[in-house]
Amino acid sequence: MDDLLTSMSDTSAALLDAPDAVATNGNGVATVSATAMIVLEDVRKVYEPDVVALGGASFVIEKGEFVFVVGPSGSGKSTIIRLLLKELEPTTGRIIVGGRDLTRLKRSKVPLLRRNVGCVFQDFKLLRDRSAFENIAYALRVQGESNTAIRRKVPEVLALVGLAHKAASRPDELSGGEQQRVSIARAVVNHPPLLICDEPTGNLDPDTSVGIMQLLHRINTAGTTILMVSHDREMVDKMRKRVIALDHGLIVRDERRGGYETE
Ligand SMILES: Nc1ncnc2c1ncn2[C@@H]1O[C@H](COP(=O)(O)OP(=O)(O)O)[C@@H](O)[C@H]1O
Ligand SMILES: [Mg+2]
Repeated sequence: MDDLLTSMSDTSAALLDAPDAVATNGNGVATVSATAMIVLEDVRKVYEPDVVALGGASFVIEKGEFVFVVGPSGSGKSTIIRLLLKELEPTTGRIIVGGRDLTRLKRSKVPLLRRNVGCVFQDFKLLRDRSAFENIAYALRVQGESNTAIRRKVPEVLALVGLAHKAASRPDELSGGEQQRVSIARAVVNHPPLLICDEPTGNLDPDTSVGIMQLLHRINTAGTTILMVSHDREMVDKMRKRVIALDHGLIVRDERRGGYETE
């Protein structure tokens, strides 16, 4: 079943598979390898008139990495996510996703970018009056997928997240953990090279959170780069993944195999 996530032949993934921009350092020298999935170069974001949400953030996330972003409320975590989806423009600095310079990306290419970046949120964002199957099918239909493709892809991805038997259930008939699995299934059904999660276990109990983390870990192992915002200290500590810590819009720590706080 993991084949589903490793096969990247899908045309919808093409935006990030065919980069048009190579980062340069101003002297025309390439500074970013082709293996980078996300590059932030001295990114400042000021919400007018005077809220400095990011005060000059730089990092590189390589293809295939699993990275936690941690930090207190208001430290700029969600701002980074919105910048990566081009829902916001940086005030200054540069953001490159899959080789694409987002500040130079045409408006018309933004939907394609968002198809290449799967998103999972704390509150699931499922349609209340639709079944698990329909929630995923709806996302595919919006992208112009054929009914034949939908009938093939949705059962596959539901099986991947362990919910083949709940295809007909509406969100109110599913547990919180099951609802989050549906939203993960919806996020990865078209094999995006990058998956972004904003506190995906924020509303879940510890045992359920472990299952969600195992699923995300499996998706990462199959090749998807994952950037995950989390407040879950225990989980972040246990995973021993790279941790980027923000405070007041600045990166205060970037540790290869880190924990929630420096020990
Ligand atoms: N649309 C907005 N307009 C003005 N200020 C905002 C807006 N969104 C966020 N902020 C402010 O920017 C800072 C960073 O917010 P955010 O990125 O949401 O932090 P986090 O996700 O880490 O809690 C906070 O001070 C927040 O109040
Ligand atoms: Mg936030």
